[in-house]
Amino acid sequence: MTADQRPKLHGLDMLTEKGRAEWDAAGMQVSVLAESPYKKDFPLLAANPQLAFLDSAATAQRPTAVLDAQRSFYETMNANALRGLYKLSVQATEAIEAARAHVATFLGLSERDACDILYCRNTSEALNLVAYSFGSMVLKEGDEVCITVMEHHSNLIPWQQACARAGAKLVYLYPDEQGFISEDEMRAKIGPRTKIVAATHVSNVLGVCNDVALMAKIAHEHGAYMVVDAAQSVPHMPINIPELGCDFFAFSGHKAFGPFGIGVLWGRHDLLEAMPPFLTGGEMISSVTEQDAVWAPLPEKFEAGTQDAAGIFGLDAALTYIEEAGFEALQAREQALVNVCMHRLGELEFVRIIGPDDPAAHHGAISFNVCTVHPHDVASILDMDDVAIRAGHHCAQPLLAYLNVESCCRASLAFYNDSGDIDKLIRGLKHVYSMFHG
Ligand code: ALA
Repeated sequence: MTADQRPKLHGLDMLTEKGRAEWDAAGMQVSVLAESPYKKDFPLLAANPQLAFLDSAATAQRPTAVLDAQRSFYETMNANALRGLYKLSVQATEAIEAARAHVATFLGLSERDACDILYCRNTSEALNLVAYSFGSMVLKEGDEVCITVMEHHSNLIPWQQACARAGAKLVYLYPDEQGFISEDEMRAKIGPRTKIVAATHVSNVLGVCNDVALMAKIAHEHGAYMVVDAAQSVPHMPINIPELGCDFFAFSGHKAFGPFGIGVLWGRHDLLEAMPPFLTGGEMISSVTEQDAVWAPLPEKFEAGTQDAAGIFGLDAALTYIEEAGFEALQAREQALVNVCMHRLGELEFVRIIGPDDPAAHHGAISFNVCTVHPHDVASILDMDDVAIRAGHHCAQPLLAYLNVESCCRASLAFYNDSGDIDKLIRGLKHVYSMFHG
């Protein structure tokens, strides 16, 4: 399609000449952004056409397929998985084990690796499990744990605590001005004393994707282990754990269009085998005597208590939704939306974008501030115009301190957004600015 044949930019009429030229040069078919073909699949979005939901990095909306799956679990196979010998319980068990195999293949593993997929509540619980169980096993006094300054508190506080318990030191990787952590920085900080490197795959504030494969390689050169917080990457890009080469990998269902309360931890089999359990109780044992217990094999050793089988069933449906829609198509659409949003924000002289200048380096998240207006005021006034964004410290206080900002606004996009949502954001921001500067 040539630039002339391409349909006119809908809702993007406020782009500058330069912005439009960049669009044409990039060959983007921006007309497809005008109306989302996906919103009809998401009941909350379909029922609220006035809403510009731009907070998917906090939690995504769920498609009907996920809501139906959860309801259907309760209606057709509700029983406590693993415990019963009757048909319903066996069916519930089969459902969560089929989902486990699905999660494995979704992450680029084979179904045989399903026993290394552990269900937990969310990414925070998964990372606490690693920091507590694995951290206690391997960290000794004088060791170093290396994390990035852009970690969400979920991948920061567990390591502060693990270091405090072991007498180890927490070392930080810092990004350059554009938000990227260079190989030089990695090689300067990851060394012979490093025992664990733990990094977010995609920053929930800057939107940048860290080269965790390179970090893993450098960590392994020094005999250290690599932990990846993938809460913000799994919803935005296909994942292949063997290619990343990490030792642990965690994500949450609710950010990946699945239910709340279901998270996943994958760990290297030999490490999981060697680690002590994190939570203890029902179903994580092979046998118990009055004074002792023998742990169950993987994955049960790490899954004490009744699992949220309906949530797992819903997560399975969310992964199927993504696969059927096609990750490439979803990613291309989302990236095009991010491009539009960055261009449009960049044209507002009272807005300062935080993070890389290159829209392609933002994976869903665009943080910004409005000149002299507190982010909480920005978010509250936008809400009056039915625009939902997040404002605050984004659970990344050390990053904000490093960037020398107290708090910021964040618009986070998903494939189901459209350029109308971005129009509303831009109109809303003009409204905000005019309220404070007449
Ligand atoms: N971690 C979520 C966010 O960044 C809640 O908004």
